[in-house]
Amino acid sequence: MSSPLTSDAILAQLRGVKYPGYSRDIVSFGLVKDVQVDGTRVNVKIAITTADANIPKQIEENATAAIESIPGVSEATVHLDVSAPISKALQAEGGSLPQTKIEGVKHVIAVASGKGGVGKSTVAANLAVALRGEKNTSKVGLCDCDIYGPSVGLMFGTNERPTATEEGRIQPIRRYDLNLMSMGFLLEGDTPAILRGPMVTRYTQQFLRSVDWGDLDYLILDLPPGTGDIQLTIVQTVALSGAIIVTTPQEVALIDARKAASMFAKVNVPILGLVENMSYFICPNDGNRYAIFGTGGGEREAARLHVPLLAQVPLEMALRESCDTGRPLTVSDPASATSQSFRQIAEAIQRQCPV
Ligand SMILES: Nc1ncnc2c1ncn2[C@@H]1O[C@H](COP(=O)(O)OP(=O)(O)OP(=O)(O)O)[C@@H](O)[C@H]1O
Ligand SMILES: [Mg+2]
Repeated sequence: MSSPLTSDAILAQLRGVKYPGYSRDIVSFGLVKDVQVDGTRVNVKIAITTADANIPKQIEENATAAIESIPGVSEATVHLDVSAPISKALQAEGGSLPQTKIEGVKHVIAVASGKGGVGKSTVAANLAVALRGEKNTSKVGLCDCDIYGPSVGLMFGTNERPTATEEGRIQPIRRYDLNLMSMGFLLEGDTPAILRGPMVTRYTQQFLRSVDWGDLDYLILDLPPGTGDIQLTIVQTVALSGAIIVTTPQEVALIDARKAASMFAKVNVPILGLVENMSYFICPNDGNRYAIFGTGGGEREAARLHVPLLAQVPLEMALRESCDTGRPLTVSDPASATSQSFRQIAEAIQRQCPV
């Protein structure tokens, strides 16, 4: 005789249903909104945001099959509430701006955050290496778009300066088989301090198109924090395939992450997912896990924005050291669990932006 059915038992079973194309399940993505058990009958509500009609169909089939496989269930009804992504909804209202492609580049992906210092550059650098792949399967470029505090030189251990051809095409720096550029490379000394508003906009527009990126599968743009002139110029004038938002689990960072997300939504740029950085700390002395900036923030925010939580990157000494010594962790220790979390982000991008 089987025990009475509970909504917890149903939820536990639904944790085995993966979101199509992801290794994560529909419960941890926060998509299951309601579970009702009526004797041997089960009703489940699932809300998803997607423009792909196959996804709701697959989730419905898999969730129904999963529930019906529980002993004692006579009937499972899965109700799906499907809505279009915010960007698509805006497009329908005619809110789009002309955004042009960068020549030779298949996908331009922005790494953004609302709050400063949450680890955008760390994520962008390691993500670029992870996307390139250990056998150089993809051609990847990384551009540090912070003219006030460029960090790509430090993170990749180079103070080489880019050169330009006679026609004025700027040649990126090659490091670890990546094409690297920094918007700050050409502005040395005191120049950045005097660049304001329209000048920043003009410089940004000109810069991105003057670089000879070569044929790239992915170009990662490491944006400055917030929603200033550089970020607005980029999101309004470059055809971005998508954006990744980096946050820490802290409420202040999450509120700012939301602002960054709405900047992309306004210009129809899809958010490919959220990365929660400094998620936890494993103490080397006692092996315990400490949630220094709290827990669950990234997961809640991802569910709120209806985007996947792509990875939870720990606060780790080796990651900080690798950035400061010019060898990203994905280069110096590709087998580490943290490098694996960057590969997880890369895989999600490759699935959403195939080349
Ligand atoms: N998970 C982590 N573990 C340890 N240190 C980290 C981690 N993420 C980032 N850091 C360190 O925190 C500092 C800030 O990170 P980073 O420069 O990547 O942030 P950012 O968001 O790009 O900052 P900014 O807003 O100034 O551009 C750096 O010293 C970096 O090495
Ligand atoms: Mg940065």
